[in-house]
Amino acid sequence: MTTLWVEASPKEELSLSSALARSFLDAAPAAAVGEVERFSVWTDEMVVFGRDAALAKFAPLYGERRTPEQKQLWSKVLAEIERVRSFDRLVVSSPMWNWHVPHALKAWIDVIVQPMASFTVNERGEHVGTLGDGRPVQLILTRSSAYDGSRYDLQDFQRPYLEYVFTMLGYRVETLVFEPTTRWTAEERAQLREAALEKARRAGASL
Ligand SMILES: Cc1cc2nc3c(=O)[nH]c(=O)nc-3n(C[C@H](O)[C@H](O)[C@H](O)COP(=O)(O)O)c2cc1C
Repeated sequence: MTTLWVEASPKEELSLSSALARSFLDAAPAAAVGEVERFSVWTDEMVVFGRDAALAKFAPLYGERRTPEQKQLWSKVLAEIERVRSFDRLVVSSPMWNWHVPHALKAWIDVIVQPMASFTVNERGEHVGTLGDGRPVQLILTRSSAYDGSRYDLQDFQRPYLEYVFTMLGYRVETLVFEPTTRWTAEERAQLREAALEKARRAGASL
């Protein structure tokens, strides 16, 4: 049993979403998560999905040949997909950034979402995920404001986007949302943090 923890906040020990993921994972029964690998999407090791990767992505679909540089890059893209596939469970912790996810998380998603390698298309032209194969992904999401529908001017692209992408890839998605995370006094912030950590602990323990 192995779990990949995908960490989207760059704040490390000061991140609430990372602390919640840690709490969730620490409380989970060992049999449910096994060995946990922590992976920050902010690592410099990440494949940069730029010009060559964008051209390499469509080359076979257009009947074109990939250049040697594109082939080399593409082998790294496929290696990342296979690395993700090798885990039994994913945990994705992420803050909301400008109503969506931090760009580093989106950049990693741009690497792992690939036709033929992580999804295919059925006879009706619909996307069918082949990466998740029904395995679980736990989303742990934080945001400053409340996106509970009480404010017409606040639109949430973080939760629906992540739920859509991981469902499309074939994962079984569970979501924990912590909001609103902004509190104006240190005492209120500490209270919020404790209550949130407890909620994450309970969710982890119930796996
Ligand atoms: C660059 C940036 C953009 C943000 N954009 C939003 C936003 O659009 N909506 C929101 O409710 N909170 C926003 N926030 C607040 C964070 O989502 C919130 O503080 C969250 O709890 C941080 O989680 P973390 O400590 O794990 O990084 C933003 C924070 C940063 C740093």
